[in-house]
Amino acid sequence: MANNFDVVVIGGGPGGYVAAIRAAQLGLSTACIDEWKNAKGGPAPGGTCTNVGCIPSKALLQSSEYFDHAGHAFADHGIEVGGLSLNLKKLLARKDTVVKQNNDGILYLFKKNKVTFFHGRGSFVRTGADGSEIRIAGATEETIVAKHVIVATGSSPRALPNVPFDEKLILSNTGALAIPDVPKKLGLIGAGVIGLEMGSVWRRLGSEVTILEALPNFLGAADEAVAKEAWKQFTKQGLSINLGVKIGTIAAGKNNVTVNYTDDKGAAQKAVFDKLIVSIGRVPNTIGLNAEDVGLKLDERGFIAVDDDCRTSLPNVWAVGDVVRGPMLAHKAEEEGVAVAERIAGQHGHVNFNTVPWVIYTSPEIAWVGKTEQQLKSENVAYKSGSFPFLANGRARALGDTTGFVKVLADARTDEILGVHIIGPMASELIAESVAAMEFRASSEDIARICHAHPSLSEAVKEASLAVDGRALNF
Ligand code: FAD
Ligand code: NAI
Repeated sequence: MANNFDVVVIGGGPGGYVAAIRAAQLGLSTACIDEWKNAKGGPAPGGTCTNVGCIPSKALLQSSEYFDHAGHAFADHGIEVGGLSLNLKKLLARKDTVVKQNNDGILYLFKKNKVTFFHGRGSFVRTGADGSEIRIAGATEETIVAKHVIVATGSSPRALPNVPFDEKLILSNTGALAIPDVPKKLGLIGAGVIGLEMGSVWRRLGSEVTILEALPNFLGAADEAVAKEAWKQFTKQGLSINLGVKIGTIAAGKNNVTVNYTDDKGAAQKAVFDKLIVSIGRVPNTIGLNAEDVGLKLDERGFIAVDDDCRTSLPNVWAVGDVVRGPMLAHKAEEEGVAVAERIAGQHGHVNFNTVPWVIYTSPEIAWVGKTEQQLKSENVAYKSGSFPFLANGRARALGDTTGFVKVLADARTDEILGVHIIGPMASELIAESVAAMEFRASSEDIARICHAHPSLSEAVKEASLAVDGRALNF
């Protein structure tokens, strides 16, 4: 096997594997090193996203939503489901199959694009203008040489101090995706994206879910109107979300976990859970890269320090995805990976950080792009706002899912769209139009004048754009 490459990518998650494919497409000899192992010890490229993140969580969200619908929503359509039962083993096995299909798909794409794949852990031996040496520790040990290295080593779940994950009672996202029996009482620490998505999965499957969140505000990153509606819907569904708590001691017993905390009024509380998911954010994976020895600089928060173009402190070493600053999102990692591969090939790769969409795959789904109303206020930007409820959308009524709304924020003077916020059915798909609109610097008038199919949920985006100038037609 060749051991000299134009590009070596360390990490085969969405940032790394996509960077490797793009580099190979551009005619660069490319290798990708990834250490993730499947249950049999074989390679499982795709990183956190494919193995214990985006893909398995969405598989479980879908299955649990079907179960929930069969129990409640179908009856409204006149479909009566008798003898409803849950085969959790099968539900989890299906999720594993979906993951494997994605792992296999990436291995196929590597072959198709002539990316050399190494299964093992990569670390720097030496770097310099003439190239870098990377040691790969896998089933065997070998050293390869690269003109350019892209570090895409991703992130890992953050544990609470002195509360390690055992993945039996105290679970990270890994254990949260594979609980073998529906826990009667499930606790989650952190009401962020994982807390809400995994809390939703297990609530729909029958758990009594309690979420303990340190911050006094719910979903602080979202637009306040969306966060308010989300709070209303999630608490109505039965998620018990406790804000402003301070976690004290956590003790794992034989079959349960006791969490001592103080609530938002400062009163001492104790809760006992069958399982506890800790979802309080993630930390960048830099340990074992040998970064210090080769002078690869980290920033003050432990991420690999990069400029806007993902250049590190070392010539010819680049870094993308969760291991660098910015939102920890698969599509952000992919965009950076593509842009870096193109820069290495002498092209002008570009990532527009202002149009990176956020999606939370709860029910209702939440999606947004651009600025929130509170951000515009704090930045003293004069804006106009238009909202349209799904209640007034014919397709949503036909679906039987009329929760939520679309909200469009536009510049008061130029009418350029500055942010779009959606809570409601298929928000994850609807947001794409707004991302494209913002990328092309469209005005709300542009969207208002585009013909949208009827009846479709996307008409709510058009109507919210019309509402910016007070001329919604159906509300
Ligand atoms: P990763 O996906 O973490 O991949 C890094 C890879 O590098 C891993 O395979 C790791 O084993 C490997 N590696 C690390 N160090 C080395 C080394 N030294 N040598 C060799 N290999 C190494 N984002 C979304 O956009 N949408 C979602 O719906 C979504 N859902 C999520 C759900 C959950 C439960 C979680 C935990 C995350 C979710 N995310 C989602 C976030 C998303 O998974 C990450 O943003 C994304 O995976 C980051 O990609 P990456 O390539 O930077 O890193
Ligand atoms: P998060 O940053 O979304 O949320 C963590 C929450 O935990 C915050 O609300 C924080 O205030 C709270 N918290 C922190 N320390 C705490 C403590 N000691 N006690 C109580 N609460 C505490 O992180 P999360 O949910 O772990 O997810 C990690 C990342 O993974 C996300 O930021 C996101 O980038 C990515 N992700 C994306 C998804 C998507 O795009 N749909 C789905 C899941 C994860």
